[in-house]
Amino acid sequence: MKKYAITLAVNRQSHALLVSQTASLLEILRNDLGLTAAKYGCGLGECGACTVLVDGKAARSCIIPARHLAGHAITTLEGLAADGTPHPVQQAFITAQAAQCGYCLNGMIMTSVALLHQEPDASDSRIRDVLAGNLCRCGTHIEILEAVHLARQRVVVTAQLNHVSIED
Ligand code: FES
Repeated sequence: MKKYAITLAVNRQSHALLVSQTASLLEILRNDLGLTAAKYGCGLGECGACTVLVDGKAARSCIIPARHLAGHAITTLEGLAADGTPHPVQQAFITAQAAQCGYCLNGMIMTSVALLHQEPDASDSRIRDVLAGNLCRCGTHIEILEAVHLARQRVVVTAQLNHVSIED
């Protein structure tokens, strides 16, 4: 099978790879790069377990051919923390104890990060709408929504603090 030489930028690191025509980003992340936070659920782009950020936007890595992503910035759950400090959304999920089996959490967190990055003051109904495409079979939706609300407060407060410090 023909292979394509590509360079992928994942979590601020470049990776030179040989990929097949049909290899999904999820396959490459998990099998070639050892980044296993993104999970295989449906393989059809419908459950959200495989969500990563592509240029800051939530994307379903199971249905995106890796060879199409050269030149794009890919962020996985492993790349969210900075200097060992969890991202505010990760911390909110820990605080709200929003995990049961944990299989959906990668997608829930990555989708929430993308949403709050684009819409830091997203309404409750907007959060529900956006997360509706991420499936959780354990039923921890109440805690997950609580976590995103908590993260929204932290993101808004952080933005306000940054604004103050910039103006000072
Ligand atoms: Fe990608 Fe379900 S595994 S959306």
